[in-house]
Amino acid sequence: MPGIVLIGTQWGDEGKGKITDLLANQMDMVVRYQGGDNAGHTVINGDQEFRFHLIPSGILYPHITCVIGNGVVVNPKVLIEELDGLESRGVCVDKLLISCNAHLVMPYHLVLDGACELKLGKAKIGTTHKGIGPAYADKISRTGLRVQDMLDIKIFRKKLEAALNEKNEILTKIYNFEPFEADKIVADYSSYAKRLEKHITDTSLIVNQTLDKGKNVFFEGAQGTLLDIDHGTYPFVTSSSPVAGGACVGAGVGPKRIDRVIGVVKAYVTRVGSGPFPTELDDKVGERIREKGGEYGTTTGRPRRCGWFDALILRYASRINSLTEIVVTKLDVLSQFEKIKICVGYEYKGKIYDNFPPHQTIVHKCKPVYEEVDGWKESLEDITDYGDLPKAAQKYLARIEELGGVPIKMISVGPKRKQIIFKN
Ligand code: GDP
Ligand code: IMO
Ligand code: MG
Repeated sequence: MPGIVLIGTQWGDEGKGKITDLLANQMDMVVRYQGGDNAGHTVINGDQEFRFHLIPSGILYPHITCVIGNGVVVNPKVLIEELDGLESRGVCVDKLLISCNAHLVMPYHLVLDGACELKLGKAKIGTTHKGIGPAYADKISRTGLRVQDMLDIKIFRKKLEAALNEKNEILTKIYNFEPFEADKIVADYSSYAKRLEKHITDTSLIVNQTLDKGKNVFFEGAQGTLLDIDHGTYPFVTSSSPVAGGACVGAGVGPKRIDRVIGVVKAYVTRVGSGPFPTELDDKVGERIREKGGEYGTTTGRPRRCGWFDALILRYASRINSLTEIVVTKLDVLSQFEKIKICVGYEYKGKIYDNFPPHQTIVHKCKPVYEEVDGWKESLEDITDYGDLPKAAQKYLARIEELGGVPIKMISVGPKRKQIIFKN
């Protein structure tokens, strides 16, 4: 019965990979339902660090079936590199399944992603340049190629040639780029198909059968609520639905299958790429958070923008995702300040907003309203009992819980598996 969704409540990089890996132990299946290799989920197992982009963060457990659902966009070249990398480190990947309905990221998507960003100039989104936006655009335009097309190379070629008719016009006439040759792409994707064929299947059927058997299925979100195409800070978003509702669409299960929705909440906020960020700290405090938190992109290496915790964002994420509980991550990173700020409102033109405003202008131009609480300077890294946390840290968590209106079930105090505190 239990279907559990885990999502990011902010702009991504909340620590979803660590929490998925931690909870995966009790699961039978871990499913990615959206996004592509724009995601970067870090898992530390013993003294080994793994960075997952397409492969679900449950892969390190041999008993778990990992699924790349229909809602994911798959760059098969990257997926094969990721599989090879894991195998070379002794990880068995036999139990990975890939949806035959997932869409493919094609070489021209990567070029178009870069070209669009270049054309936007200062207004660029700051994408990961993985071709994600163009791949989803083709899916919605009904001109995309799917994983199953690779298994019938005649069909693949036909669809590819139709796509290239349009893409090559755009590439050569608008962007002044070289056109793509169908033959080369057909040859490359035929070889990817040979490698991936044994993993490709009707994953919706298997996910539903697993739930029917009363087994535990974990849906691992990528990105975060504010990067959602519908509910995020559009246009500075990704092109998929990272919110909890996306799990149903992107895995092929009905909403009644979902029993719990876990929100991952970083103890402060980060963002990589462009777009509004009310509590951003473009100063020494922001730098201290970045350095202690190692806030550099897992996928692109870009420095992440850092800012204070924002309660409006948590309340919004709770509403959009029907959160049943939250996990607060990276609390240890705040163990360096005399005082810590919590954003409890946005001020714009004399009005105070206590809900995330629907009009983007307000998010761009508002001034955060802060509440200041005492910090703690003790290290938290070795604490495993809630009661052992400094009183000021407990108060900070209680305030997050109160402002967000969602119970905290876990607190992460370091990147390793064992650095976790369970809270009743
Ligand atoms: P994801 O995209 O949400 O999976 O997050 P990322 O893996 O991109 O970024 C989170 C980073 O923080 C990774 O380097 C993790 O190893 C690290 N991390 C996760 N939880 C904690 C924590 O509680 N404390 C610290 N200091 N680091 C953490
Ligand atoms: P995980 O799963 C943080 C951001 C990019 C950019 C915007 C659009 O690791 O949390 P895209 O390449 O998706 O078209 O870029 O979304 N972005 C992420 N930011 N974490 C991620 O994934 C992200 N995936 C995309 O930086 O602002
Ligand atoms: Mg990440």
